[in-house]
This record gives sequence, structure tokens and C-alpha cells, in this order.
Amino acid sequence: MNGFELYNTTRLVFGEGKIDKLGELIQPFGKRVLLVYGGGSIKKFGLYEQVKNKLSAMGATVEELSGIEPNPRLSTVNEGIRICRENDIQFILAIGGGSVIDAAKAIAAGALYDGDVWDFTIGKAVIQQALPLGTLLTLAATGSEMNGGAVITNLETKQKRTMGSKLLYPKFSIVDPTYTLTVPANQTVNGIVDIMSHVFEQYFSQTPSTPLQDRFAEGILLTVIENGERVLANSQDYDARANLLLAGTYAMNGTLPTGVTADWATHVIEHEVSAIYDIPHGEGLAILFPNWMKYVYKERLEKFVQYAVRVWNVETTGKTEDEIALEGIYATQSYFKKLGAPTCLGEVGIDNTYFERMANEAVQFGKIGNFKKLYKEDVLRILELSM
Ligand code: NZQ
Ligand code: ZN
Repeated sequence: MNGFELYNTTRLVFGEGKIDKLGELIQPFGKRVLLVYGGGSIKKFGLYEQVKNKLSAMGATVEELSGIEPNPRLSTVNEGIRICRENDIQFILAIGGGSVIDAAKAIAAGALYDGDVWDFTIGKAVIQQALPLGTLLTLAATGSEMNGGAVITNLETKQKRTMGSKLLYPKFSIVDPTYTLTVPANQTVNGIVDIMSHVFEQYFSQTPSTPLQDRFAEGILLTVIENGERVLANSQDYDARANLLLAGTYAMNGTLPTGVTADWATHVIEHEVSAIYDIPHGEGLAILFPNWMKYVYKERLEKFVQYAVRVWNVETTGKTEDEIALEGIYATQSYFKKLGAPTCLGEVGIDNTYFERMANEAVQFGKIGNFKKLYKEDVLRILELSM
């Protein structure tokens, strides 16, 4: 096991009705608040109204930035930065899924920076200060509610890049499962795939002797597989929605990578795909991850055997390790298919036109991944396998 430090500064406030604490949670940071939200789902299910009432009760002055796109745009982030500066905003409240939260984080960093906020994604500047932010999560997927990362898309250059800092951890995140009861089936599936993919990135590691981390990871995967099916059978199943949310948060809040060297190559490749084609992150992952697995599994066969047996209950009698590992990978692909996720790039209208560009961009800062180091040729192979 590797040495590590774990320091997560987000206060996680979980459960039905926890919005009652909103005023108390924002109070220490000030009363000039920027509300950030997406395309209007929060208005349809009544959350917008509730939040406005709570903010009004605490005497807050509220500015709004709505219309945050899935795969949030740099231009929208810049609009938020402008609003913060012109109104001397003291606190940013994000209401939505990962896209809204990520946009709020980028706004928080950009509002207190003199240069271009994009600098933070290309290593040109390091985040030195940020406005405080809090979140009300409405979709189980990214884990952005309890980490310091944000993923932003520059539409002009067709680049999707990450920025991160301890300063971008939300001060609090209210996670109320009732807010996710309205998430449509396709977004629920995207979330399930994303959560499982976050676990894969941290589970498929070359670090030896990590039994507790392995079992945390397998526990999250089994929970997501079981509860994902329950939610898709009954979208109003509160307990299943709650279990999915908790799994999503724990998959990305820094618990799983303690003491292990994580991979993250598939996320880098997916970001290149969705930067050009603007497909949902979960769809890209559902296509790419099983193919990454097929490409790399021999690098540490026993880990893939363990995965097949413990997560998918693959029967081992009379089979080679190779056969067992492959069965686990095919079970993953079948599960995604059963959920209704796409299984190849062609299904989402993507051909090989931009493969060269995607591969170049993916390795622009050097080789990617740790389970197997991937160079441009490897990325191209995985993209070709995914056609
Ligand atoms: O815009 P609204 O109207 O809110 O609708 C959204 C959006 O259309 C809808 N939705 C959300 N909650 C809902 C709801 N619809 C009905 N009822 C609700 N309760 O769902 C759609 C998708 O939302 P989005 O926020 O885009 O989804 P997700 O949470 O999957 O976020 C995806 C983004 O996060 C990035 C991805 O790359 C992508 O840009 N990621 C962020 C990470 C992080 N910060 O840690 C890590 C991830 O790996 C990922 O890269
Ligand atoms: Zn992800």
C-alpha cells in the first residue's frame, strides 16, 4: 500500500428535508449569493421555489445564472464570473448535477483571478483563492459534490479540461434523495455508468496489498449494480435512489484512492470524445471502459479474475484465468447494455474522423494511465476497439 493523506473539507448533509439547514449553512459566508442552475429541471420539481424561499428568509440578496449546459461551457462560466464581480458575490450555491456544480467551482476560482479561468486547466496558473460554494445535488453520478475537481468545455477549441484545488471543495453539500426521483431513465443510467467507472479507475491498480480498498470498491460496485436495477424498475424507490447517491459520493470523495495508484486513462479518453461530439459523459464511458478493460487486463490478470469472481460471481471451475477475467469484462459490457447504455461509438453517431486528434490530445501532457501506461498508439487502438 502507498502512503497517503486524506483531507476532505466538505460537510456532507444527507437525507430527506435537509434543505431546512440551508440558511444556517450559508450564513457564515455572507448574504450576497449567486444561484447557479441548469436547464430548468429544478423549477419543474419545485426545488427552485424552496431554495428561493429559504434564501429570502435569511435576508439574502440573490443573483442567478441559469442554463448551465450538460458538459458546461467556458463561455457560461465567464458569464458567472462577470456576475460575481459586478455584484460582489460572497457565496455561490449550485443546484443540479455535476455540470452545474463544476461550473460553479470554475466560477468560484475565476471570480478571484485576474487572468483567464481556462489557465487553471492547462497548468498556466494554480488556483490560489476561490469564493466559497455549496451545493444541492440533484443527480447521482459525478461525486463533484464532495471533491475539488471541475470539468469545463471550451466549445471554440473543442477541448474539455479539468481544474482542481482543495479550495474548490464545496463548503457543504445537501444530498436529499427526493431531489433525484425525477431524474429520467437515461440520465440515471449515465450516472450509474459514471459511478462504476470512477470505481474502476481506482480499483484497477498495480498497487499490491490493498484488501480494504478493494472491498470498499467492490462494495460500491455491488451496491450500484443492485440499486441501479431497482431504480430503473421503479424510479420512485427512495431507498434505492439514496443508496445510489451515497455510492456516487463515496466513489469520488477521496476514499477509494487512499494508498493506491489510480488509473484515470479512460476518463481522459472520454473527455476527448465528449469534447468533440458533446455526448453525455456516461455514454462515452459505457462504450470505452469495457474496451479499455479488454486492452489492458493481461497487465495484472489476477485483479481482473478477482473482479470477475467477486463482482459478477463468475464460476471458475474448469476455466483458465484468462477466460474468467474475460467473462467479468463481458458481464460489465452486458450490464451496461441491459441498462440501455450504448456499446459502441457508431451507436452515438461517431466514426473515426477525429480519432487521430483525440489520441493526440489525450497524450498531450505525456502518457496516460497507470494500470498500463498508454501512448498515442494505445489510445488509437482502444478507440478502434470501441467502434
Ligand atoms: O440542466 P437541468 O435542467 O438541471 O437537467 C439536467 C441535465 O439535462 C438533468 N437533471 C439533473 N438533475 C435532475 C435532472 N433532470 C430531472 N430531475 C433531476 N433531479 O440531467 C442532465 C444531466 O446533468 P449533468 O449535470 O450534465 O450530469 P452529470 O451529473 O452526469 O454531470 C456530467 C458532467 O460532470 C463531469 C462530466 O464530464 C460532465 O461534464 N464530471 C465531473 C466530475 C467531477 N467534477 O468530479 C467527474 C466526472 O468524471 C465527470 O467528468
Ligand atoms: Zn466520470
